Amino acid sequence: NFTPNAFVEDCVKELQEKVKGDKVVLGLSGGVDSTVAAVLLHKAIGKNLYCIFVNNGLLRKNEFENVLHQYKDMGLNVKGVDATARFMTALDGLEDPEAKRKAIGNAFIEVFDEEAHLIEDVTWLAQGTIYPDVIESVSVKGPSATIKSHHNVGGLPDYMKLKIVEPLRMLFKDEVRRVGKTLGIDPELLGRHPFPGPGLSIRILGAITPEKVRILQEVDAVFINGLKEHGLYDKVWQAGAILLPVNSVGVMGDERTYEKVVALRAVESTDGMTADWVHLPYEFLMKISNEIINKVKGVNRVVYDISSKPPATIEWE
Ligand code: XMP
Repeated sequence: NFTPNAFVEDCVKELQEKVKGDKVVLGLSGGVDSTVAAVLLHKAIGKNLYCIFVNNGLLRKNEFENVLHQYKDMGLNVKGVDATARFMTALDGLEDPEAKRKAIGNAFIEVFDEEAHLIEDVTWLAQGTIYPDVIESVSVKGPSATIKSHHNVGGLPDYMKLKIVEPLRMLFKDEVRRVGKTLGIDPELLGRHPFPGPGLSIRILGAITPEKVRILQEVDAVFINGLKEHGLYDKVWQAGAILLPVNSVGVMGDERTYEKVVALRAVESTDGMTADWVHLPYEFLMKISNEIINKVKGVNRVVYDISSKPPATIEWE
């Protein structure tokens, strides 16, 4: 029987014994796991925890600024690094999903490595790895490893020579949320939907351009804010929008348009391994579709993804 209070107490003690007076670096993603890991470590070792939050330019609209503020308000010692230009260069011309994931993973490692080197005498790397990540990284040794490469586990190269500390390694997601609640983390942050490490890059099918990122950020913001306003956000496990690599014909007044199509996706799931599409109310879908087409320049058609996993995956790439 898991008790978050006892976990926090034991974990803080263990971290203090393990890390002692050493410095620890941790990459924050804005997600639940890395945030809870950071707050636990902060409780244990205070200012010896150095957090780095990288903007890869593929986050949700205004996410970098908002989350960075939130982290600072929580008392974390966090450095925000805007590496958007670097990621855009790394992605330039790439169309293949796996190539995009690799480019982003490599760019992240480069940026993180540079930033970690600026911290004098840092000896530990902390990660928000949770139990399902551990299981998954063990089980993806076979041919299925090539289906999708995840960058969360063991993502950093050996040459960094940092010792690894993973305080959430034995916990399931719901336990991580309960620990976060005990630690006083904002319930809104703890209830956030999962978001993939490569961010919007795998929701822009094909090659990435700054303009496509802008369009998708706007569409996604309308959808996610709409879910929140209609009390639907917490009923959905994960939601987002996908920018399709096709144009479709439309009419606007007397003019013919030829613009982008976006797909909306919302799923119910417990662990992401299987998922059902959510039966969002038609009224809600109608309102969101109108709002997207009216507000977001460059989009003239919205479709809703009614595929479950398996066989469809949650992400389209
Ligand atoms: P799929 O598309 O495989 O997604 O059904 C299952 C869950 O994993 C997330 N996902 C990723 N997360 N890096 C990540 O950190 C990735 O490359 C990646 N691909 C998929 C997806 O958002 C969903 O929550």
